[in-house]
Amino acid sequence: MSLSFRNIRKILVPIDGSNYSRCAAEYCLGIAKMLDAEIIVVHVIDELVLDQISTITKRANVERELKQSSQHYINHVLDLAEKAGVKACSLIVKGGPFEQIVHLAKELNVGLIVMGTYGRRGTERILIGSVAERTIEYSPCPVLVINKKSGSEICQEKER
Ligand SMILES: Nc1ncnc2c1ncn2[C@@H]1O[C@H](COP(=O)(O)OP(=O)(O)O)[C@@H](O)[C@H]1O
Ligand SMILES: [Mg+2]
Repeated sequence: MSLSFRNIRKILVPIDGSNYSRCAAEYCLGIAKMLDAEIIVVHVIDELVLDQISTITKRANVERELKQSSQHYINHVLDLAEKAGVKACSLIVKGGPFEQIVHLAKELNVGLIVMGTYGRRGTERILIGSVAERTIEYSPCPVLVINKKSGSEICQEKER
């Protein structure tokens, strides 16, 4: 029953700064509006990436910069949500991206996850990005994945 489409109160929108995730977030606003649901925009600071690009002394600085840049694209989605009259909040967490997305989906009892097919790596040699693939596999709720073709129509952008 709780997984019924009509019962969706919260939608998790994971964004990584890529156009793919931005388009997914834009699409999600229409669904949230229709369902009168709240969106929770989340960015996961990938701990592996953090390890790779920081030395022990610089780690705090790198983390701060990653937080600042993610806040920037989160704010963009929050602005769009406000304009669309959709209730929205945001989170920046640290860890493994799909692990955190799945964890939050459970913890916050979300009814739907809306995300992109690809992300910053844009790994088209495989069918779908690994964060998307693993989220689909382990999510407690349905996952709506916006593919490249529809994503570009949503955003009306040719540049990827
Ligand atoms: N660090 C992250 N935080 C939040 N969402 C993410 C993160 N990484 C990926 N995503 C979500 O997963 C989608 C697919 O990205 P991903 O599977 O990482 O593809 P790629 O391998 O091309 O980077 C993105 O469009 C975004 O919605
Ligand atoms: Mg990625």
